[in-house]
Amino acid sequence: STTPLKVAVTGAAGQIGYSLLFRLAAGALGDRPIELRLLEIEPALPSLEGVVMELDDCAFPLLAGVEIGADPAAIFSGVSVAMLVGAMPRKEGMDRADLLSANGKIFTGQGKALNDNAADDVKVLVTGNPANTNALIAMSNAPDIPNERFNALTRLDHNRAKTQLAKKLGVPVTEISQLAIWGNHDDSMYPDLFNTMVGGKSAAEQVDQAWITDEYIPTVATRGGAIIKARGASSAASAANATIDHMHDWLNGTSDWVSMSVPSDGSYGVTEGIVSSFPCTVTDGQYEIVQGIELNDFSKERIAASVARLEGERDQVKQLGLI
Ligand code: NAI
Repeated sequence: STTPLKVAVTGAAGQIGYSLLFRLAAGALGDRPIELRLLEIEPALPSLEGVVMELDDCAFPLLAGVEIGADPAAIFSGVSVAMLVGAMPRKEGMDRADLLSANGKIFTGQGKALNDNAADDVKVLVTGNPANTNALIAMSNAPDIPNERFNALTRLDHNRAKTQLAKKLGVPVTEISQLAIWGNHDDSMYPDLFNTMVGGKSAAEQVDQAWITDEYIPTVATRGGAIIKARGASSAASAANATIDHMHDWLNGTSDWVSMSVPSDGSYGVTEGIVSSFPCTVTDGQYEIVQGIELNDFSKERIAASVARLEGERDQVKQLGLI
């Protein structure tokens, strides 16, 4: 299609934005013109103007236009893709309830603005943390948009899990299929290897349980912290890459399982309504949770623990009147 795809990015002047925008403008979502709608808070707009100057200076053939602003209603007008990256970071002295409440204000407002202004086919992906619960808040404040159009990002965990397994087995990542992250995007997320295939054979049969429990899961779960320690800043390019991977696949379809945090329909006993990570496939722009997967007791226990975290967050935001 030659009509520009209208893509909103929030928190566009932030770290992730600085990687994300250039990849989007270069055609990462597909070979079609793109119009960028960039939302920031007022004080960050001057810095965002600098980023827009750099976008200009790339002369991207597919970049049909860039608009910036601090008003969600104007920025979200007519968008078919919304990448909600901007969020309130945890500051010193803030507990989890403060964080949920600060972000709650952002995501109730953005949910309403999407509801009233976005295109009918809008797909919303939340990257800003706590991503799953922020997605739940936005979804709950956008009654006219079907729930399944609200996803949260667990693709970074998925990609991390894939590379760690590939390194362990000394194979390229392309040998790995049917890998999936379940649950919340926090340190309780669960990468299931018991249904994963490597070079046509079961992954779990090529590693032992102690490695999975004591090394693999903790390495994937604490990778964000390891990157902060090494780089002095949180993962940004890899988070932008995962955000693009998720949206690319949601728009264009999949050939293997991907991990997507989606509103649960009750599959696998995951509480209906919460936004939790599942193995998904996508056809014609619609995702489906992969059905018929066998989960062993270890997996069931890990998934239940992560789902319990999501239920706890849901209860808190309900108490705060955000959903
Ligand atoms: P950053 O702090 O560099 O940028 C965030 C930007 O959001 C800032 O420019 C800020 O002005 C903006 N912002 C804040 N409130 C806003 C609002 N109401 N509307 C529009 N913009 C607003 O942070 P960074 O590194 O870019 O990360 C962004 C978010 O992504 C964080 O919440 C981070 O925790 C999360 N993240 C999520 C990952 C995932 O896998 N789901 C991975 C890595 C980061």
